[in-house]
Amino acid sequence: MRAVRHRGHGGPEVLETVSLPDPEPGPGEVLIAVRAAAVNRLDLLQRRGPGLLPGFALPHVPGMDVAGDVRALGPGGHERRVGDRVLINPSLTCGSCPQCRAGRDAWCASLRVVGGNRPGGYAELMVVPAARTHPIPAHLDHVAAAGLPTAYGMAWQGLVVRGGLRAGETLMVHGAGSGVTIAAVHLARALGARVVVTSTSRARLDRMAELGADVLIDHRSSDLVGQARAATGGAGVDVVFDHVGPALFQASLHALRPGGRLVFCGDTTGSEAKFNLPHAFHSGVTLLGAGSCGPADFAAMVEFCLSRGLVPVPDTAYPLADAAEAHRRLESGAAFGKVTLLPGSAS
Ligand SMILES: NC(=O)c1ccc[n+]([C@@H]2O[C@H](COP(=O)([O-])OP(=O)(O)OC[C@H]3O[C@@H](n4cnc5c(N)ncnc54)[C@H](OP(=O)(O)O)[C@@H]3O)[C@@H](O)[C@H]2O)c1
Ligand SMILES: [Zn+2]
Repeated sequence: MRAVRHRGHGGPEVLETVSLPDPEPGPGEVLIAVRAAAVNRLDLLQRRGPGLLPGFALPHVPGMDVAGDVRALGPGGHERRVGDRVLINPSLTCGSCPQCRAGRDAWCASLRVVGGNRPGGYAELMVVPAARTHPIPAHLDHVAAAGLPTAYGMAWQGLVVRGGLRAGETLMVHGAGSGVTIAAVHLARALGARVVVTSTSRARLDRMAELGADVLIDHRSSDLVGQARAATGGAGVDVVFDHVGPALFQASLHALRPGGRLVFCGDTTGSEAKFNLPHAFHSGVTLLGAGSCGPADFAAMVEFCLSRGLVPVPDTAYPLADAAEAHRRLESGAAFGKVTLLPGSAS
């Protein structure tokens, strides 16, 4: 099979197209003919180096977000049949560590991640456990399906599982250039919440308005906290979903109503945030960290998105051999929506 991998770290030029042996599905696994693999921030970070996930090894085939067709079944009983169109949950929890056994599999101690610390979807073929595949309906093409796992899984974990966002509440989310933000706006609108989006870019805010965002705040030219309060009759928002990190963390706290929830899941602007403790404890806010989805939450996210007709926003699609171009596109910051590779013909 053809695959794209990197043997070292560096710029997009380290991505090379190679011929590798076809993988064989083991017990409980399926062989997937990959039709679409969305490019993720983690692919860029681990290409630049160092590898971030425990167990990352070179050479590495990236690609966490995969949709394709079942080509063959490994030994054992299977829910899947050859020809099924599926998307993949990239988080392979072990099922046997203390966290998994206690039902807290989102915090699995031996997590393996497709395209993160095991071979991913920048390839014509890959093997995954059948239990981590989810059927995709005929109305959803492979490119759209490949846009769901990481961004919508993260937004689901943040807004629904951790944040408990309810209909009628007001959510604030930062960064209109982020795939996680697009997913958060889609999910929050479908949940019946009112959505405030903040950005440094007027053009990106206009795209967010097209997706249904109710209030748009350009925080380069206006006061973020003041605007958030103005949009809520002075009360403050119920939930902030902050994946930007230190640059906006303090503002996120001050934009909340008393007793509000701040869900955080990213470190785009750094790994250490500073904030005013008395303000945080006097206002009774709750800080909620959110990581990846466990299998049951992921399945619920897929079911919700498919039943509500949520379709990820496409940016551009490239043949597999143009993976370096796809990385440049995402790195440029010019993309709005998913950048996707097409290892096979997309349906
Ligand atoms: N915990 C997990 O399992 C998990 C999973 C997925 C993602 N994440 C994290 O979620 C975050 C979002 O990822 P992503 O790939 O969707 O988006 P991203 O590319 O990291 O987000 C870029 C956007 O963040 C905003 N931003 C960047 N620097 C900023 C600054 N100094 N001040 C204000 N805003 C700034 C900008 O929005 P504007 O241009 O609109 O201003 C920019 O377009 C990342 O930190 C990622 O690691 C975590
Ligand atoms: Zn585990």
